[in-house]
Amino acid sequence: MPLPALLEQKLEQQKRLFELRRGALERTIEQHIQLFEQRKGALEKKIEHQFETHKKKFEQKFDTQKKKIETRIRRFEQKNGIRLDDEVRFIRSWIEKPLTTGAVTPSGRALARTMASYIDPRRPGPVIELGPGTGPVTEALLAQGIDPSRLMLVEFDPIFCRLLRARYPAATVVQGDAYGLKRLLSGVLQQPAAGVVSGLPLFTKPLHMRLRLLFEAFGLMSPGAPFVQFTYNAVAPIPKRLDRVSAQASERVWMNIPPARVWVYRRD
Ligand SMILES: C[S@@+](CC[C@H](N)C(=O)[O-])C[C@H]1O[C@@H](n2cnc3c(N)ncnc32)[C@H](O)[C@@H]1O
Repeated sequence: MPLPALLEQKLEQQKRLFELRRGALERTIEQHIQLFEQRKGALEKKIEHQFETHKKKFEQKFDTQKKKIETRIRRFEQKNGIRLDDEVRFIRSWIEKPLTTGAVTPSGRALARTMASYIDPRRPGPVIELGPGTGPVTEALLAQGIDPSRLMLVEFDPIFCRLLRARYPAATVVQGDAYGLKRLLSGVLQQPAAGVVSGLPLFTKPLHMRLRLLFEAFGLMSPGAPFVQFTYNAVAPIPKRLDRVSAQASERVWMNIPPARVWVYRRD
């Protein structure tokens, strides 16, 4: 047999062998892909199941802790013959929405008094309170000489709103998000406000939202009226240096848990 024909035959054999191997290899790859897909599905289900199990366990633990705290509070009340209704409401609200409630306990009297002291009862117009909660600052505003009918209480939590309506029937309680103040009070506010007192946990919101709140509040108040805000933080809740805005801080109020400071902003 001449050499090129032999070579051609060999090449033909190699080609067939290659095709056979390629087919086998493709089938193996196909099998691996299928296996991977099956395993991927099973793995996803396993992860989902584990996530659900952990979530349930966490929720159960959380529920048990919640009940334990409530039982302890009840026992404490019974033992001491007192009712800690407001504290319980506050703790419950904090447990459910820690970032919205922003504190574990209502403000103490000293802090509430300091906040209210910046509101001049002789300045006409309603007084807007943001985030009154169970009403410690509201109480201090009344003690400061503000007539209850002048109070406009803006609160997010429906349970606190119900409590405030029952406690201060002459006040206007507006349930809603204070960060949309202008829209929320349009149609409710009949004249420029004499001041805004805020118990909102401002630091849980980005700066641009805090600034928008401040300037919306300025837009609703008479010129020079104060925007009063407390904070547990060392730094001002809204920057002190703003164009045409003056900011002043109170002494630290140590008789509060935790100690706090009051900041007052006015637009010139
Ligand atoms: C730190 S607590 C202060 C409560 C009360 N002023 C005090 O000093 O004890 C914050 C309050 O603000 C309310 N709050 C939080 N975010 C709010 C929002 N976006 N609009 C209206 N109220 C809000 C909470 O429900 C809570 O009552």
